[in-house]
Amino acid sequence: MIPLCHSTELPEGQSRSFTVNGLALMAIRQHGLAHVYENHCPHRGVRLDWQAGRFLDQSASMIQCAHHGALFLIESGECVAGPCSGDFLRQHPCIEHDGSIWLQSLPQRDS
Ligand code: FES
Repeated sequence: MIPLCHSTELPEGQSRSFTVNGLALMAIRQHGLAHVYENHCPHRGVRLDWQAGRFLDQSASMIQCAHHGALFLIESGECVAGPCSGDFLRQHPCIEHDGSIWLQSLPQRDS
């Protein structure tokens, strides 16, 4: 397992950015669960955030791409509104253990 951060560094309703193995990732906590996705919008293949670590819409209930406003479900990464509707963010499975968030495997660019 690959350590990502301490659990307290990802409070409820917050998001953070990380770089692991050269790959840009984002983590969001919703309803107590941490979710990790690649920071890569399926619309244009660019990072979703203009400000590092800011990935959520105003209500903090959806992931929002800063470029053209695509909205993604936090729990699945599915785009439900915007130019890439129906596409998914690439999820990286994680678990919480011993007060930390861990990736289950090293993220690879093309796996
Ligand atoms: S680059 Fe993300 S919605 Fe266009």
